[in-house]
Amino acid sequence: MFENLQALPEDPILGLMAAFRADTAATKIDLGVGVYKDEHGKTPVLRAVRAAEQAVLADQQTKTYVGPAGNEQFNALIAELVLGSKHPALTSGRVRAVQSPGGCGALRLGAELLTVGGARPTVHVSDPTWANHVPLLSGAGLQLERYPYFEHRTGTVKFDAMLERLSSLPAGDVVLLHGCCHNPTGADLSIAQWRKIADVLLQRRLVPYVDIAYQGLGEGIEADAEGARLIAATVPEALIAVSCSKNFGLYRERVGALMVLSESGTQTNAATSHLRKIARGVWSMPPDHGAAIVARILSDTKLSEDWRNEVDAMRNRMLSLRSALSAALAKTCSAEMASVIEKQRGMFSTIPVTPEAADTLRQQHHIYMTRDGRINIAGVSMESIDYIAKAIGSVA
Ligand code: LMR
Repeated sequence: MFENLQALPEDPILGLMAAFRADTAATKIDLGVGVYKDEHGKTPVLRAVRAAEQAVLADQQTKTYVGPAGNEQFNALIAELVLGSKHPALTSGRVRAVQSPGGCGALRLGAELLTVGGARPTVHVSDPTWANHVPLLSGAGLQLERYPYFEHRTGTVKFDAMLERLSSLPAGDVVLLHGCCHNPTGADLSIAQWRKIADVLLQRRLVPYVDIAYQGLGEGIEADAEGARLIAATVPEALIAVSCSKNFGLYRERVGALMVLSESGTQTNAATSHLRKIARGVWSMPPDHGAAIVARILSDTKLSEDWRNEVDAMRNRMLSLRSALSAALAKTCSAEMASVIEKQRGMFSTIPVTPEAADTLRQQHHIYMTRDGRINIAGVSMESIDYIAKAIGSVA
């Protein structure tokens, strides 16, 4: 049965992570996979997570099954975190969340929902987008198209071209939008641009699918959700995929959620019943531990406050790294490349280097980045900045 299978190339992001681990050079620097790192290159367990985890374990009475939709307290709290507790879509009962194994599980759950009843809407993704969007969405049988998004030369959003493309799409098509901290570019939409997009989606009856995986790591926990909140207040139907990997640092626990918004509470409940059925047929139930931790944090004022402070600290560290890297690159590369990095937000920036130059950086300088030139800002340290800037300058 398997005799005709050929071994596949490594995943562009996870393969890089494995190659970095295998590299024995003392000077190696990981700007690859999107995980937060402190000044010592460590990805710490957050204080609030540790405290919540201890409380969860101390209180746990059973390990029995939870259910295909996961932890309902988590579902309610995560929807409030993304939309704000007073959002009209929430208070009118038009939106519900279903827990998923990470943001990836959420994205796939939503993709499967879009195919229920034999529909096969085209999903329009930004050019470029996160590499794993492609298998997650097309694996459900959806056709993908790309809309213009990123101007490499200026490092900014090609907003007019994006809007023009969205304005020409047929009703019922789906548009995938990065809620904040665009992966891989770090180039985000302003709130005025979100407003224009929301209007086009409404007029053309397009269905937004917002992927929000970095809430809090761009401008702030509330500010980063503004685009998603605006969309949910404007259109009749939407999907929102949420990840708790980065802002709660719960990567390996696999915790996320898919939120579904429809025209009425009844329709949302019907959609949710399909989500439970899809989940049951794939993973049956999501893992409990991470969601129990998040629910504990978000339902406890003190833990929530501490968690918010920790998110602020991660964001502020990345902002100072952006400024310092920008200043160092101004000396070794073009002034344009330097200023772009300072303007972008979140964990990533895409720098204008060729795939071959990215290979050289890895092979000769032990600096790991994906071949599209994406760098993880959190992988930089104040100590390594000059080394990185010089190496990039030598290949750019
Ligand atoms: C990334 O973009 O590097 C992260 O989201 C990790 C992943 O799963 O690709």
